[in-house]
Formats: sequence, C-alpha cells, structure tokens
Amino acid sequence: MRSQVGIIGAGPAGLFLAHLLHRAGIDAVILEHRSRAEVEEAVRAGVLEYWVVALMHELGLGERLAREGHFDDGISLQWDRERHHVDIRELTEGKRVTVYPQHEVLKDLIAAWIAQDGEIIFSVDDTKIRDLDTQHPAIDFRRDGTSEMQTLQCDYVVGADGFHGPARQAIPASHRTEYHKVYPFGWLGVLVNAPRSWHELIYANQAEGFALLSTRTPQLQRMYLQCRPDDDVAAWSDARIWEQLHSRLDTDGWTLTEGKIVQKGIVPLRSFVCEPMQCGRLFLAGDAAHIVPPTGAKGLNLAVADVWVLAHALDVKYRHNSRNEVDRYSTTCLRRVWKAERFSWYMTTMLHHNHAETPFERRIHRADLDLVRTSRAAAASLAENYVGLPFDAPAAGKA
Ligand code: FAD
Ligand code: PHB
Repeated sequence: MRSQVGIIGAGPAGLFLAHLLHRAGIDAVILEHRSRAEVEEAVRAGVLEYWVVALMHELGLGERLAREGHFDDGISLQWDRERHHVDIRELTEGKRVTVYPQHEVLKDLIAAWIAQDGEIIFSVDDTKIRDLDTQHPAIDFRRDGTSEMQTLQCDYVVGADGFHGPARQAIPASHRTEYHKVYPFGWLGVLVNAPRSWHELIYANQAEGFALLSTRTPQLQRMYLQCRPDDDVAAWSDARIWEQLHSRLDTDGWTLTEGKIVQKGIVPLRSFVCEPMQCGRLFLAGDAAHIVPPTGAKGLNLAVADVWVLAHALDVKYRHNSRNEVDRYSTTCLRRVWKAERFSWYMTTMLHHNHAETPFERRIHRADLDLVRTSRAAAASLAENYVGLPFDAPAAGKA
C-alpha cells in the first residue's frame, strides 16, 4: 500500500487532517486501532471553538452541527453560591459557545471520508513506524483477525494516535523534552437523561470542589464533579452524585433538574507537552503531543489547530516544493499549544479545590474569579481564550 501521507489514529486530529489534505489534493490513508463503533461511541469533549465550527462548514461537514449543536451566548462562573454570566458573544464581537459532542463530530467526519472513497482501516494492531530518517518512511500494521503484517509506504507519517499511542515513542528520547504536570484531582463525568437545567454551561467552585454542568442533546445532559484522581466509580452511588451536584451547583432559588444517570466514568487531570512535535518525516498532532486538563475545553480544538497548520505546511511542500512551513511545524504549533496550556491551567487552578494549596493561594484564585466579574479586560481575555484565540499565521481556511 502507498499514500503520500500515512495517518495513525482516527480521532479529531487524524480525521480533520485527512479532510484538509484531501481538499488540497494530497492523498492520505488512516490506520485506526479501534473499531468504527468504538470510535463513534466514546463520550469525550463537548465544546468547539468558533473557527472549528467555521472549518466544518468550509469542509461541507456542518449540516448536522448547524441543526443539532447548541449555540450559547456565554458561560456562567459560580462561587460563593453566586452565578456570574460571562457574555462571550458580546466580549468577542459576536463569537458564540458551541456545544457539539466530539463523537458526533467524528461520526460526521468518518461518514464523509468514506463517502468520498477515503481509505480508513479500523481495528488495526501492532502499528510500527520505521525509516523516519529516510525519504521513504513506512508504517507496518496487522489487520483485525489476520496474522500477516502489512505495510503502508508514504512520504510523511502523522502520529495522531492520542496520548497512549506509539508515535511519540518513535522519536528517540534524546531528541525530545517532555513537560508534565499532574493535578491532585480527577473528574467524575456522568450522562443524565433530563432536560437542560440552565441555558448555558456552569463552571462552579464550591468548598466541596469543582462541578460543571454541560449538555449533549435537549434530553441528555453532561455533568462533571471534581473527585480524587484514583477514585473508584463504584464509590459514587447515584444518591452521592446528586447530593454533591446539588451542593456544588444549586443557588438560592435555583436547583438542578435530576434524571436517570446512564453513564459514569472518571478521568485524571494532567498537563503534558512534548517538544519538538516532529522528527524527520514524523509529525505528532493532538493528544500524541500534548494534553490539557479539560477545564478550558481546549483538547479537541488544539488537536484540530495542529493539523490545520500541518495541512497548510504539506500543501506548501507539495505545491511549491518548499520545506519552510514543514520545518516550522512544531515551532508554529507550540506557540498556540503553550497558550492553551496556560489557559487550561488557569481555569483548572482557579476553579478546583486543591488540598495541597495554602490559604494564601486559595485567596488568589478567589481574586482571579472576582476579577472576571469586575474587570472587562479580564472577562474579555477569558472569553477570547475560551472561544478560540486568533491564529497568528497563516490565515484560517487557506490550508
Ligand atoms: P484521540 O481522540 O485520543 O484519538 C487518537 C486515536 O488514535 C484513537 O482513536 C486511538 O484508538 C488511535 N490509536 C491509538 N493507538 C493507535 C495505534 N497504535 N494504531 C492505530 N491507532 C491508534 N477535551 C476537551 O476539549 N473537552 C472535554 O470535555 C474533554 N473531555 C475528555 C474526556 C475524556 C475521557 C478524554 C480521554 C479526553 C477528553 N478531552 C476533552 C480531550 C479530547 O477528547 C482530546 O484532546 C481529543 O480527543 C484529542 O484528539 P486526538 O485526535 O489527538 O486524539
Ligand atoms: C463537555 O461538555 O464534555 C465539556 C464542556 C466544557 C468543558 C469540558 C467538558 O470545559
């Protein structure tokens, strides 16, 4: 098998890249470890930055998003039982908060890729990248249920295989630096059959810990509670979840609408960056290169930002035979990555209860929250980061 670009992973990074390359006339094959059903069912991120929404429309993939997405004017921040509306639309010249779940994005991207005869092989195993420092890198893999290894020959390999995938390890340890931060808490996420309780997302910081109220469909809501990173889902009975959600989210005169809890899961919170994001003919994109805690809703968006830069760089390479953009890929991406790391860390430390912090540090976080309430500049900065920072180069949509 041969293609110009070999992509490992059919998450947001891999699938958006395939579509962007196709638009530029560059062919790509996607190899995915999980089955199509597993990819399309995993409940993950919810919030899309404004330019990701625009990109889906540009790629002709925005029809269901326009119909089924939730478009909110802002978010609510809550502390000391008081709720404050951050008017993101007004603070960012009309940009809105879009909630459209990651697995729905993936369904749309996969269906369109297959409809245009794009090659995607699900359920592959034993993926191995080789010959990265030659002109002819290759990916060896095994198809589901077969014992025979196959090879995808390509010009470039893209590791869009998430945090636990093998691509990052293909860069020699001596050529990369990894930056880690592990937070002393995790999130318990639940899906609830219930109508929406509030017209926008609520991020709450109470003495008992953080809580987030988000949404999925008019009848299905997504809620999160700060918990211990090593917590066991079995320790969270429905009654305990409701008691904690009420005590962290309810205010005087407002109470959360309950419903049947249909799914529960726990994720640890961490920040991680691998520098550089490229080595020879291998490029890392998305979670393979960096992780943010979900409090800033940046993970998916950052994955799409990487491949948007990469698609442009490869277009310049194939069209003009210039390596300039390809060589700068990591440097260009890392500028945005570190701003997203900063924002995600800021939102996380400001909104969670951290037992390891001193009373002084807690007062500082409280002041940060109050600053968003009282200073237009602070609110505008939060709004701009949340809805999506502008790209410094090149212009969006010209990949
Ligand atoms: P992934 O989505 O991880 O995709 C990587 C793909 O590569 C996977 O499909 C995997 O099966 C495949 N793969 C791995 N190894 C191999 C291999 N050897 N061969 C072939 N394929 C392979 N972000 C937010 O912004 N907001 C949120 O609310 C949020 N919630 C999250 C909740 C959870 C439980 C998790 C895990 C993440 C969450 N994130 C959230 C982060 C967000 O979902 C990720 O940042 C996003 O999925 C990154 O996309 P990606 O394409 O880089 O990686
Ligand atoms: C979600 O809906 O899953 C979601 C929304 C906002 C976040 C994190 C998760 O910051």
